[in-house]
Amino acid sequence: MPSKPVYLGIIGVGGVGTAFLKQLSRLPNAPSIVLLARSSQTLLSPAPSFSPAIPAADWQTASSTAGLTKSGPLSPSEIISHLTSVPGRSVLVDNTSDPALASAYPQFLRAGISIVTPNKKGFSSDLSLWKDIFESAARGNALVYHESTVGAGLPVISTLRDLVATGDEVTRIEGVFSGTLSFLFNTFAPVGPSSSAPPAKQWSEVVREAKELGYTEPDPRDDLNGMDVARKLTILARIVGLEVPSPDSFPIDSLIPEELASIPSTAAGIDEFMKRLPEFDSRMADLKTKAELAGKVVRYVGSVDVGKKEVKVGLQQFDKDSAIANLKGSDNIISFYTKRYGSNPLIVQGSGAGGEVTAMGVLADLLKVLERL
Ligand SMILES: NC(=O)c1ccc[n+]([C@@H]2O[C@H](COP(=O)([O-])OP(=O)(O)OC[C@H]3O[C@@H](n4cnc5c(N)ncnc54)[C@H](OP(=O)(O)O)[C@@H]3O)[C@@H](O)[C@H]2O)c1
Repeated sequence: MPSKPVYLGIIGVGGVGTAFLKQLSRLPNAPSIVLLARSSQTLLSPAPSFSPAIPAADWQTASSTAGLTKSGPLSPSEIISHLTSVPGRSVLVDNTSDPALASAYPQFLRAGISIVTPNKKGFSSDLSLWKDIFESAARGNALVYHESTVGAGLPVISTLRDLVATGDEVTRIEGVFSGTLSFLFNTFAPVGPSSSAPPAKQWSEVVREAKELGYTEPDPRDDLNGMDVARKLTILARIVGLEVPSPDSFPIDSLIPEELASIPSTAAGIDEFMKRLPEFDSRMADLKTKAELAGKVVRYVGSVDVGKKEVKVGLQQFDKDSAIANLKGSDNIISFYTKRYGSNPLIVQGSGAGGEVTAMGVLADLLKVLERL
């Protein structure tokens, strides 16, 4: 544990934020929370005493706790001012997907505030922001950890950073990086057929089922456009040293039929998209049949070819006995091909989505920061 006390500012109390607070509340000697924000409201433990602290276990009722201050949303400078007035070090835990907050990370870091986050935006937008984040961390003597930006709680980023730091030569990274697309393809084109297998479903039926189960974003096109996978690949490629300018600077196969791409992302637009998706089922069926004729199955994957400096996101056929073809449910799988590991890659596999596992990655990052500050 650090020699000086550490104070926390936490932003975002959605699926991940709520699970994070629950896990934090069970930690012995957890740092004090002095700022807790959602989009419309901020709760502050007031300076200079920073007492009482915001209780992690009872944050939902904390706004009525005597001694805490309530306010509307704060600007990054206001958050910095509060977090730098504590008698110790501070860490900002960003559990939002807000690009504006992410673009302020350099300001936080230069002020000496460490960052822990599952928010991909800061690390997968313009390359200049990525560089600014890590340069600012060095200047501010602050730390930045973002394990849960790829593969949720799975040890993907830490594994890759360890491979790089110990001098292994990473030649290729390949995998299924989206829990949603994993579920869609594992259901649409399962490895089989077996006599007990249920009858095959059309693509649009599988998308509808995933949406009803809450596996997709409210607008499934936000999963089907491949952008979330492209952001994850951008992060991994940058860690191995490729200067990827932005997540749209390489080829991405979109699974949205062109004819449906411009329907607005309103509630009525999403309904229309879902209603019209069956018109295009034959396209996905053709892809599935083509793969079957070659004895394979189709999957949506991302890859980084380090030697060729190539990043790709899209559909590929895989042998039926391959690990990617046999993935289950909404699992992720990430294979690291390196000089040391030879032809058998180092593989990380498991659940790559969900509040609890994502929060575990965020909390584990926070523990590393506490050890290293
Ligand atoms: N869920 C997963 O499985 C998963 C997996 C890997 C990574 N992640 C990443 O984890 C992050 C959080 O995901 P989530 O599923 O928890 O999202 P969510 O349920 O939509 O929650 C987002 C939270 O952030 C708050 N928020 C948004 N913008 C804000 C702002 N500018 N200032 C203050 N609060 C703000 C929201 O406030 P309100 O409560 O007021 O709306 C909400 O509490 C995202 O970056 C996501 O990509 C999630």
